[in-house]
Amino acid sequence: MNPAHSPCQIDPARLTRLLGPAQSRFTIEALRECSSTSTLLLERSRQGATSGALLVADRQTAGRGRRGRSWRSSPEASLTFSLAWRFSSDIARLAGLSLAVGVAVARSLEACGVAGVGLKWPNDILLNGGKVGGILIELETVPGGMLAVIGIGLNLQMPAVAAEELQEFLHRPAALAQALSAAPDRHRLLAQLLLDLAAVLDDFSAGGFSAVRNEWQARHVWQDRQVRLLNDGQLDRQGICLGADADGALLLLTSSGVERCLCGDLSLRVA
Ligand code: BTN
Repeated sequence: MNPAHSPCQIDPARLTRLLGPAQSRFTIEALRECSSTSTLLLERSRQGATSGALLVADRQTAGRGRRGRSWRSSPEASLTFSLAWRFSSDIARLAGLSLAVGVAVARSLEACGVAGVGLKWPNDILLNGGKVGGILIELETVPGGMLAVIGIGLNLQMPAVAAEELQEFLHRPAALAQALSAAPDRHRLLAQLLLDLAAVLDDFSAGGFSAVRNEWQARHVWQDRQVRLLNDGQLDRQGICLGADADGALLLLTSSGVERCLCGDLSLRVA
């Protein structure tokens, strides 16, 4: 069916009901199709979009991943949305935000009955070692603080990926359907995600990444393992991964001692 003529699969009224008392914290907009929920929400944030603005789309025609990669979505196979959230702190205090968001997503998936969820620095959601979702955080300066546009994409079903494309992935793709007996209800999953995001973002606002650091480390798939850190595909550093510090920087025990690696164009691979 032409997406222009089909109803959006997310019903804002049903989602609002599922949010219960927390519904007042969100303004929900559901689209059949858009270029990218994050691109659109960023544009709106420059025009004054408020904290709690949610944009969910069945299909993105130009979905964006980290490092300029594209991100695919389709109504049957994925859940893609972006959430605007305001922080009164400056940009330096938001360094660990993508890790904190990872904790919220992991909590939600587990609450929906998904076992085997893991987190990989800085912002991959893994399911039994395969990539089931990703997080893209973009920041705008606003009067009195920062507005984060938090973009999240989850594979509900296995995405169709050509063999040659697989080579550029650090992880094989995974899908929530692999860990559940029935396809997840997108409304329930999204409501759970919003509730967990609100709780984690409140804690993050009050205490920074430290507030959820232990939880992150407990789910960190390469904690205490020998890893290589790659930058643009080239070996940058290697050592034992000690997890993340209170600012969300990766800690690596190398031959020169403990080194801090900040979020950036870095990739991590088991050595
Ligand atoms: C990654 O590269 O792992 C991050 C992927 C983030 C994808 C989500 S889907 C919703 C939002 N809109 C986008 O264009 N990207 C993010």
